[in-house]
Order: sequence, then structure tokens, then C-alpha cells
Amino acid sequence: MTETTSPPASPVAPTPRRRGWYRRAWDVVDDRLGISALRYPVPEHANNVAWSLGGITAAMFVVLIVTGIILVQFYNPTPEGANASVRDIEQNIWLGSFIRGVHFWAAQAMYVTAALHLLRIVFTGSYKKPREGNWLLGVAMFGLVILALFTGTVLKWDQEGYEALSHNVEIGQLLGGAGVWFSPDFAQNVPILVRLYGAHVVIIPVLIFGLLVWHALLIKRHRISPHPSLPTDASGTQAASGEPTEPFTYHLRRVSVFALVLLGVLGILTVLLPPVVGPEPVAGVEVTLPPWPFWWMFTLEDWIGLSGILYGGAALFILLILVPFVDRNARRHWRSRPVAMTIAAVVFVAIVVLSILAVVLPAAKHLM
Ligand code: HEM
Repeated sequence: MTETTSPPASPVAPTPRRRGWYRRAWDVVDDRLGISALRYPVPEHANNVAWSLGGITAAMFVVLIVTGIILVQFYNPTPEGANASVRDIEQNIWLGSFIRGVHFWAAQAMYVTAALHLLRIVFTGSYKKPREGNWLLGVAMFGLVILALFTGTVLKWDQEGYEALSHNVEIGQLLGGAGVWFSPDFAQNVPILVRLYGAHVVIIPVLIFGLLVWHALLIKRHRISPHPSLPTDASGTQAASGEPTEPFTYHLRRVSVFALVLLGVLGILTVLLPPVVGPEPVAGVEVTLPPWPFWWMFTLEDWIGLSGILYGGAALFILLILVPFVDRNARRHWRSRPVAMTIAAVVFVAIVVLSILAVVLPAAKHLM
């Protein structure tokens, strides 16, 4: 056994290194706000674009809230004033046309990024145990994003918006008692446009926000799903792969950069392809196509009638709700899940083909 000898004690005790004023100021702030708690480790794969799509969707939601708050100051939700107020925003309010354009394009972007996020979750099997509940929260938020797109279209109160509302009212009738909220007679003293405005600016965003907080808490609790090609531990809650990690604050920075790049693209789209607003609507005619996310339902409506929208929408959402309960295969890599991947591909292709047919085929008359 060899004996270790300690170095002789230094006659002068080392002076502790003084910390810079900014470091001490940061500590004072952090002690009170707990910001460094966000520096918990996140596996490296969570930083690539595919795994950041949920964060980019959340960023689009923030853009919509900010631009929406500005639009609310100048929008008049009564049937007599709605269309004129949108034109006023376009023509007379400083930056009004730009803010409205960014709001419109951010809404399209949020729909696309939410749908791509959903597809990523399907592709990497991230809805599997224990994330079934979070999948359902996601399905609910996806439904709310679609409702926000729909109500936003009605608010312009031009021909497209008016026809969207007419479809909504007639679908409400098909639903019988369950559709009573969509009837113009629901509140005698409040026009249905005002109620849909309330849904668009308060009910839907508040619900999305609440579900989003829940969604985020569950992601933190379960941790991000492991990469499908890396080994997982028995509970499926964490990769036991030795994959390197980065602090969550790094992930937040990455998502912010992706979202800023997307925002730049939306700004360019706003200038090149500003959203249109048509003249005041004419009742009793049916000449417009719905916004593109609804085209696939429009083709079903052409084939089956108005109930096609109801059956098509219900079928998609029932299928989405069932996904984690029907697919009990524990494997996550797409190659080991041929049935799930085939069904997902068939549904996706069907929606794309039906959407293309809506533009290509002559439209039938649907409204009563
Ligand atoms: C509509 C707004 C939505 C927002 C803002 C959102 C946000 C997020 C964020 C930030 C994450 C972390 C991982 C990532 O970014 O990929 C996430 C994970 C997750 N999301 Fe969403 N999401 C939304 C919609 C959805 C939808 C439509 C679904 C599926 C139907 C869904 C299901 C899930 C699941 C299961 C996870 C955990 C996945 C994992 O751990 O890899 N989310 N979401």
C-alpha cells in the first residue's frame, strides 16, 4: 500500500473569487423568479425541427393573440358594421392591413404546424403509454384550432364568411337539440355573428390556452418521448440510451429561432399574398369555396349533401380519439408498425385527394 502525502499548507489562505455584479444581479432575480429551474436536461433529439413543431405551434398561438388583440380594437362584430370595419382596418388603420395579414397567415401556419406535429407524434409512436391522455388533449386543441379558423372566416362577413355561417346554421339543424347554439334563434337579442365573435376572441383561445398549459405539464411529467431508434426503459418514460442532453432553455432558444424564421416567411406572404375581403354578402346564393383546410369536407358535401361535413368531421375525430386505445403495439419505430403506418397514410392521402377534388370538380349546390 502506498502512502499519500498531502502538499504543505499554504501560508496565505486563497481569497474567494469575486463574482461580477451582473452574476449577483442575476442570482437576485433568479432567487425570486426561479428562471434557472428551466435548465433541466432534455435529450438532444428534442431539438430537431420535427420535435420542435409543437413549440412552433405554441409560438404561432402567441402571434395570433398579439395580432388579434390589435384587430379587436378596430373590428365591429355587428352584422351591419362587420364588413365595413374589416375594410377600414385594411385601408385606414396604420399598419392595419399588415397586422390583419399576419393574423391570417399565422392562423394558416398554426393549422399546418399542429397537423405536422400530429403526424410526427403518429410517426414516432409518441401517443403510446403513458402519453394517451396528452394525445387526447392534443386532439381537443386541434379541434379548437379548426373552430378558430372557421369562426375567423365568418367574422369578415363577406360572401365566403356568410356562406360558412349558413353551412354552420344548417349543420346545427341537422344536429337537432345538440345544435341549438348554432341557431340564430338561440339568443333573441344577440346576432349569431356576435356570439361567434365571442367564441373566436374569448371562448376558443381561453380553452386552447388552458389545454396547452395541461399539455405542457404532462410533457414535463412524462419527459419528451424517446427517439424510436434508441432503447427505452421499462416504463417508456425515458430513454435509457445514454443520449446526450441539453438544458431546456437551449430547446426554447431553438424553438424561438424556428418560430422567428417562420414569422419572417409569414411577413413576406402577407406582403405578396394579402388576405382578401369581399363585399357585403348576398343571402341565398352559394358561390364560394370554403377555406382550404375544409376542402376535403366540401367534396364529401358534394357527394353526400350537407351531412357529409358532419359525417366526415366526426369520422376523422373519432378515429383520432381511438388511436392510442386501438394501437396497443408497444413498438415505436415506423418499420415495426406496418398496420398503423398504412392506416395513417391512407387517411392522409384521402384528405389530400378529396381536397384536390374540391377545386377540380364543379361544385353542387348544398344549402337548403
Ligand atoms: C394545437 C396546438 C398544440 C400545441 C401548441 C402543442 C404543443 C406541444 C409541444 C410544445 C410538445 C413538445 C414536443 C414537440 O414540440 O414536438 C408537444 C408534445 C406532444 N403533443 Fe402536442 N401540441 C399541440 C397539438 C397536439 C396535437 C394535435 C396532438 C395529437 C393529436 C398532440 C399530441 C402531443 C403528444 C402525445 C405529445 C408528447 C410527445 C412526445 O413526448 O414526443 N399535440 N405538444
